[in-house]
Amino acid sequence: MPTKSGHRGVGHPFAWVMASMVASFAAGSTVSDQLLRHTTGNGLSWDSIELPEQAQLLLPAATVVLPSVPPPEMANASTIFVPPGSSLQTLLEKPFHVFHEDYLSIIGQGPTLSLIADSGTDPRFHEAVVWYPNTDEVFFAQNAGAKAAGTGLNMSSVIQKISLSEAMAVSHLRSAVGQVQVTVVDFDPPVVNPNGGTNYKGNIIFDGEGMGSDVPPALYLANPNPPYNTTPVNPANGHIYFTDVTYGYLQDFRPKPVLPNQVYKLDSVTKAVTAVADELINCNGEQIVPGTNCGHNLEWIGLTFSPDGKYAYVTDTGAAMAFYGYDQSKPSGIYRYTVAEDGTFEYKKLFAYSTSGVPDGVHCDSKGNVYAGCGDGVHVWNPSGVFLGKIFTGETAANFQIAGSGRVVICGETHLYYAQIAAEAAPIT
Ligand SMILES: *[C@@H]1O[C@H](CO)[C@@H](O)[C@H](O)[C@H]1NC(C)=O
Ligand SMILES: *[C@@H]1O[C@H](CO)[C@@H](O)[C@H](O)[C@H]1NC(C)=O
Repeated sequence: MPTKSGHRGVGHPFAWVMASMVASFAAGSTVSDQLLRHTTGNGLSWDSIELPEQAQLLLPAATVVLPSVPPPEMANASTIFVPPGSSLQTLLEKPFHVFHEDYLSIIGQGPTLSLIADSGTDPRFHEAVVWYPNTDEVFFAQNAGAKAAGTGLNMSSVIQKISLSEAMAVSHLRSAVGQVQVTVVDFDPPVVNPNGGTNYKGNIIFDGEGMGSDVPPALYLANPNPPYNTTPVNPANGHIYFTDVTYGYLQDFRPKPVLPNQVYKLDSVTKAVTAVADELINCNGEQIVPGTNCGHNLEWIGLTFSPDGKYAYVTDTGAAMAFYGYDQSKPSGIYRYTVAEDGTFEYKKLFAYSTSGVPDGVHCDSKGNVYAGCGDGVHVWNPSGVFLGKIFTGETAANFQIAGSGRVVICGETHLYYAQIAAEAAPIT
């Protein structure tokens, strides 16, 4: 979905409010609080654990009680929470923020974060982040409709790609702008306002948001090799799941919606399209997941599946209304559904609530840990919803992709990042 670039301010309403709520109780639990600050859940002393060079500890016990609580005019979804004892500078210096010891095995011993491209004010690095293993390239799309993108009603947003070998070659640098070539890919016919994408049987499916009243949203099956031809999707088997939400309208390039915000299933056999989930304010931005309920990995922005296919994760970015600002009383969460044998969704459950911007793109790694692009970087939870840590960029991470072995490409709107961690991507379909 479209998001504004992160604003670098200080504050975080949820944490601050929580802080005031727990302040009195915390005063009486100094001993366990002290213990939590200094030992891991396994009782190991943090002092005996050597953190990677680009990592820092930000344990909940050390930051949950805050000295003061600023009002929402100063601290809200568009500001960056800087915990006591930190500054934005220190948060950026060591961008792998460890909130739980289990995060250490995800980032490994030498995680790195590199800025590899900067597009000024034009949000060229937004969504539809797809790794194409055959050429080891990663594709991504511009923010359709964002004012600084110059797209809107007259022009569609563009798809670009990078070669991962070039990104890997500069992973020892924190800033490598200009050293990785970013190439515009001219799909034919063009994908109109792409905002989602996923691997599909050796090709890529992009999801276009449409344009004006005459070009409707559509799924495109695209050849990731020259001549980059696209055809209407006609999957041979394996259902395709996608969401269809209002952001084209909230960015003024589509008419008012006439359907609810829902998740749909395109049945691979019958070709029937059925709604599988509703009650979402903005199930994020028209995303697609080729999925089956038989154990393949299905991944996509705002919608992804656990590696065993048992669960679907859907982000609801209802709090973010693009050109119309934030309403933080609306959802900003990741919801988990159980995928039934017949491919329908059941048992909606709140998996996680994001306190920074909104959770946008969502993907699982091979162990079922859940990653989401949020207002200050990529956040990571274990399969039970325990928050483990962040890759902190200090600005919106609209989407990202884990490309095979620990290689993460992060779209930060006007900034493109490459991170190297230890976790493996879930296998692709
Ligand atoms: C959110 O906080 C920022 C930074 O303090 C402020 O500039 C902005 O006006 C606030 N937004 C709202 C809606 O209060
Ligand atoms: C679209 O193009 C028309 C004609 O060139 C121009 O008048 C209009 O301002 C443009 N609209 C936008 C949103 O760029």
